[in-house]
Amino acid sequence: MSHDESTDVPAVDPGMAVSTASYAAPSPDRFSDDDTALSEQTWGELRQIAGRYPEARSGLLPMLHLVQSVEGRVTPEGIEACAEVLGISAAEVSGVATFYTMYKRKPVGDYHVGVCTNTLCAVMGGDLIFERLKEHLDVGNDETTADGKITLEHVECNAACDYAPVMMVNWEFMDNQTPDSAVRVVEDLRAGKEVRSTRGPRLCTWREAERVLAGFPDDLADEGPSAGPASLVGLGIARDNGWTAPGGQAAGRTADEPVASATGAEGSHEAERTEAEGEVQRSDADLKHEDDTQGTEEAK
Ligand code: FES
Repeated sequence: MSHDESTDVPAVDPGMAVSTASYAAPSPDRFSDDDTALSEQTWGELRQIAGRYPEARSGLLPMLHLVQSVEGRVTPEGIEACAEVLGISAAEVSGVATFYTMYKRKPVGDYHVGVCTNTLCAVMGGDLIFERLKEHLDVGNDETTADGKITLEHVECNAACDYAPVMMVNWEFMDNQTPDSAVRVVEDLRAGKEVRSTRGPRLCTWREAERVLAGFPDDLADEGPSAGPASLVGLGIARDNGWTAPGGQAAGRTADEPVASATGAEGSHEAERTEAEGEVQRSDADLKHEDDTQGTEEAK
């Protein structure tokens, strides 16, 4: 397959700030086995992504997410397009697309529901949630409901064990779930109701989320706090006890090595300490935000 860049592809601003508002919705025939032609807009955006990186092939991961946002999965045509833009073989692209589990070879529904069944979530109820959803939705693992709304998959640890059992919808966290709450979430999604992550953001569709992963922001990144109370418990304990990170344990240096006395090294350590203190202050702000939110909820 060849695509003449010089004549067919419209000029695209190389910047990343492309609004989803200008994004043309994909064909509703999302479960067709026929590969649809990628639009000129998509070709242009694939080149735009490749242009963000000193080595164009570094853009392959977000390019595959863009393909999924348009076609609902990684199609053979999408693989060919990525290969052509990057000047690599389709086999190389396919090797990446089949390695990572976030790339799908079967069409995904409007909402990808991933239930964590890794160790901690499993013992905290993740296995029960997954079984209940399979039964309720009448699907197996990695299958989509007949109405095309929900794709169910069991997923590995989401690095959110402090909120186990955790479910993800289009990669947004749904913390501290139960079988009943999980069923409520999928039913609200199927009914078209607005559903929010337990951490704040509104849930968008899977294709919209894939477009964000391709590097086209939807301006929802600031919805909700950046960290929840359970993740900040350790910080609170350290703060209450006046604990700080050891100053001499900078990365790459063992406890036996002398502390560098050169001004540059000291300046570097000072910069690290200042940055760390900034992180603590930001996290303190998150804690306060959580306290305020809880206070408001309780006052209702
Ligand atoms: S085990 Fe489920 S988030 Fe870690």
